[in-house]
Amino acid sequence: MKVIVCENYDEMSAKAFGVMKELLDAKKDAVLGLATGSSPVGLYKEMIQYHKDGYSYKDIKSYNLDEYVGIDRKDPQSYYTFMYENLFKDIDLNNTHVPYGNTEADCKAYEDALSEVSIDLQVLGIGQNGHIGFNEPGTPFEELTHIVDLTENTREANARFFDNDINKVPTQAITMGIGTIMKSKKVLLVANGENKADAVKAMIEGPIDTACAASALQNHADVVVVLDKAAASKLSK
Ligand code: F6R
Repeated sequence: MKVIVCENYDEMSAKAFGVMKELLDAKKDAVLGLATGSSPVGLYKEMIQYHKDGYSYKDIKSYNLDEYVGIDRKDPQSYYTFMYENLFKDIDLNNTHVPYGNTEADCKAYEDALSEVSIDLQVLGIGQNGHIGFNEPGTPFEELTHIVDLTENTREANARFFDNDINKVPTQAITMGIGTIMKSKKVLLVANGENKADAVKAMIEGPIDTACAASALQNHADVVVVLDKAAASKLSK
């Protein structure tokens, strides 16, 4: 794993975009794996700025990691809406995919679609409990796209998007599995804030164990982790 520690969120986002830009410039029809949440919003702002500066995403494809179950795509809280508001509406990326549904057939359909492409760069955030996508602690590393029961910790962390009311946070999600994520050619994980420091340490320095889903990334050949100082604060080296 290559670990880059930055002063703050803005520098983290700019550095992360630098990693993505190398791919965008080299491969006009690159396939991106995208994440929702607060961590990549600054990276998406950089992507938007690059488009304003003249870059076209028209031949790029994107595949999102996950989506809540039981929320309509048009719901303001859906990950589909999140992606639209924070990225898709401001760039000319038209070939976008966000998983949807709650059945095994829905999971298989998404995995089948993914098997027709090869993700060049998968953007990830990390949960306070070490999840990537919605692969909660204990998820077997070989899982592909599947339906998960969200942990209390994850629902609490995401209540901020639901009027701070955990009861409004869905209890399930559809997510790429760790097995799906590990197939991507390169992984770019961004994390900021002290509340991520324990998870970041477990991911990088801990044992490779399903207790920290992100520790699976130690087995991936090409991972770049971009952190702000607070998220890196518990790393020993
Ligand atoms: C989002 C996702 C999650 C988030 C993680 C961190 O699509 O898959 O794993 O990346 O929960 O969320 P933030 O960035 O909001 O702290």
